[in-house]
Amino acid sequence: MQTLPGKQIILGVTGGIAAYKAAELLRRLRDEGADVRVVMTQSATEFVTPLTFQALSGHPVHTDLLDTEAEAAMGHIELARWADAILVAPATANFIARLAQGIANDLLSTLCLASTAPLAVAPAMNHVMWSDSSTQANIKLIRERNLHVFGPAFGDQACGETGEGRLLEVPQLVDQLASLFSNELLSNTRILMTAGPTYEAIDPVRFIGNHSSGRMGFAIAQAAIEAGACVTLIAGPVSLATPDKVTRIDVKSAAEMHQAVQSELENCDIFISTAAVADYSPVEVQARKIKKSSDSFSLQLKRNPDILAEVAATGQYFTVGFAAETEQLQDNAQHKLAAKKLDMIAANQVATDADSGFNSEYNALDVYWADGYLQLERARKTELARKLIELIAEHYKTRH
Ligand code: C5P
Repeated sequence: MQTLPGKQIILGVTGGIAAYKAAELLRRLRDEGADVRVVMTQSATEFVTPLTFQALSGHPVHTDLLDTEAEAAMGHIELARWADAILVAPATANFIARLAQGIANDLLSTLCLASTAPLAVAPAMNHVMWSDSSTQANIKLIRERNLHVFGPAFGDQACGETGEGRLLEVPQLVDQLASLFSNELLSNTRILMTAGPTYEAIDPVRFIGNHSSGRMGFAIAQAAIEAGACVTLIAGPVSLATPDKVTRIDVKSAAEMHQAVQSELENCDIFISTAAVADYSPVEVQARKIKKSSDSFSLQLKRNPDILAEVAATGQYFTVGFAAETEQLQDNAQHKLAAKKLDMIAANQVATDADSGFNSEYNALDVYWADGYLQLERARKTELARKLIELIAEHYKTRH
């Protein structure tokens, strides 16, 4: 089982002798499913060449803040936004001091300031430098700002002395990084979810479908697992890998999704309906392929059951709906929240011209509940999913 599936990690390497261990760390992070971009300080390049990290990561290594070529490919602000987490390993005393003071005089220190992603440093230095009062004061300062400090370990040092200041071993660094993504927000909670589109058969070769990719739902399933929940995901036709530990039930049509929800419902506490369920399906499914004969053709459709509204009507589950809208986002979302008697609704604008919403890696959500709302600005779906799960956990706990 991979512990960092799909996580986008910036590995910062600073100039200490332990820099060579970052090459092994990079390999293990990739083994755990992470997509890693390496950023090196100038002094780190004196210890290990960027080419080593480029070969191991499969991506160019970033070293300069003012490199026009690199900025054109992925600018430093874009890189800062791209990251799900930043791990600086090894982190020298000098880098930690710069971080503590908010100095942004190279690419790595600038990224650390420009990113809202969790940031961890793994100090590695001579034990006297580590125990020096200024280093300790800097470490205290960065801990107070909720930065994470992994290690250092006690043991033999490159300088021939023994003490506290060694870089943590690679497996420990990987474990600690993975633990940044886990929390206990929804432990002992069972979540039933729907995701993806539904296909309503017209004949053996045609169907009515929609552009939902299922990515938002799958990202929520992953975030719910990381929050300690037990997750059953009822998925329409999508080509996405099942997140680890998620129980997946594949369905095609709205009717099949409806049936699957009904049979799984009693084993859940929270129902999250991210699926783009077809509102209508053909009254009759033709047994043979329909041949073109006349100039026009009409299809009679019947209304599908509203799965979410049905679940909410039982009053037994914390229900979260989604609303994809092309206009009047707020009015439509608040109307659906009340009409379907939901606990929460996440609304997104389905713009045809922007890389957001359906079939995109990105989304922006306005989340409404009975007496409040929160705007989650455009971000990758994985990041939005984590924020939404935090919000769901908070409201679910208040209700119970
Ligand atoms: O009313 P509308 O289809 O816009 O509502 C969207 C919400 O309702 C989504 O959460 C969707 O998963 C759910 N829904 C459903 N069954 C339907 C239609 C929508 O569960 N037949």
